[in-house]
Amino acid sequence: MDPNESVEAYYTVNTLGQSILYALRTLGKDAGELTVDDLAPIDQFHIRGRMATRELAGIADIAADSEVLDVGCGLGGSARYLASEFGCHVTGLDVTREYCDVATMLSSLVGMDGSTRFQHGSALAMPFESDSFDLVWTEHVQMNIEDKRGFYSEIARVLKPGGRLAFHDIFRGPAGAIEFPVPWAGEQSISFLMSEADLRRIAADLDFSILSWGDVTEASSEFFQRRLPAMESRPPPPLDLALVMGADRLAKFRNLGQAVAEGRATVVLGVMQHAA
Ligand SMILES: C[S@@+](CC[C@H](N)C(=O)[O-])C[C@H]1O[C@@H](n2cnc3c(N)ncnc32)[C@H](O)[C@@H]1O
Repeated sequence: MDPNESVEAYYTVNTLGQSILYALRTLGKDAGELTVDDLAPIDQFHIRGRMATRELAGIADIAADSEVLDVGCGLGGSARYLASEFGCHVTGLDVTREYCDVATMLSSLVGMDGSTRFQHGSALAMPFESDSFDLVWTEHVQMNIEDKRGFYSEIARVLKPGGRLAFHDIFRGPAGAIEFPVPWAGEQSISFLMSEADLRRIAADLDFSILSWGDVTEASSEFFQRRLPAMESRPPPPLDLALVMGADRLAKFRNLGQAVAEGRATVVLGVMQHAA
C-alpha cells in the first residue's frame, strides 16, 4: 500500500463527524452557540492538548495578516485556535480525508469558514504554490513520514522568504525503542522517529536557522502521569479523543507516556526561520 494510504487508513474512523455531533448533543451544546474552546477536548490530537498549542503560538510571532499553513492539521483545532486568537487566516492540509471533512464541519459550526480552510493532500507534495505562507505550523505529524528531507523541503518551498516553521514534535530518545501501539501508529510500519540531532542537521542543510528549541519532555511526561490514572479508572467523557483514537487508546497513551518518562522519546516545541 502507498505510505499515504496506510497512514490515512490508520487514522480513518468513518463515522467521526456523526459521533462528534452526537457527543455535542449529549453535552447539551447547541450548535449555534458552540465556541472554539468547546471543541478543545476532541480537536487537539497531541501531547498536552490546548496548553501546548498556546505555548507554541506564544513563540511563533503570528500577526493578523499572517498567512498560516497547518501541515497535518488533523481535526483543525490548532487552525481554529490560531485564527481566533490572532485574526490570521489558516489553511489546514491533511492526508486523512475524513479529518479534513470533520475539520471543515467543526469550523462551520463555530462560524469560522472564512478564516480557516482544510484541504486533503500529502505533506510530501503540497498542493500550494511556492512562497505562499508566512508561517508553517506542524504538531505531531512527521513521525508518520519516512522521507524527512522531503517533508522539510516542501515546507521550505511553500514558505515565503524569511518565513518561519513552528513545530511541536516527538523524537527518538537515547534510551531505546518505543513500544506499539502509540497514538500515531498501531505498529512500526507507519512510524519513523528521528532524533533531535537529525532534525537539526536537516534544518541546517535546508537553510533554516533555529530561533527557539524548547525541550518539553518533562512537562509531557507529567501530563501523562496526571492524565493516565483518571483515564484508567473511568470511562471517557462523551467528547474525548477516545472517539478519534479507538478501543486501544489506553495502550497508546500508556506506551507513549512510558517512552517519554524513560527517555525513549523526547518532545520539543520549536521555531525555525527559513533563509530570506
Ligand atoms: C497525531 S495527528 C496530529 C493532528 C494535529 N496536528 C493535531 O495536533 O491535532 C497526525 C496527523 O498527521 C496527518 N499526517 C500524517 N502523515 C501525513 C502526510 N504525509 N501528509 C499530510 N498529513 C499527514 C495525519 O492524517 C493526522 O491527521
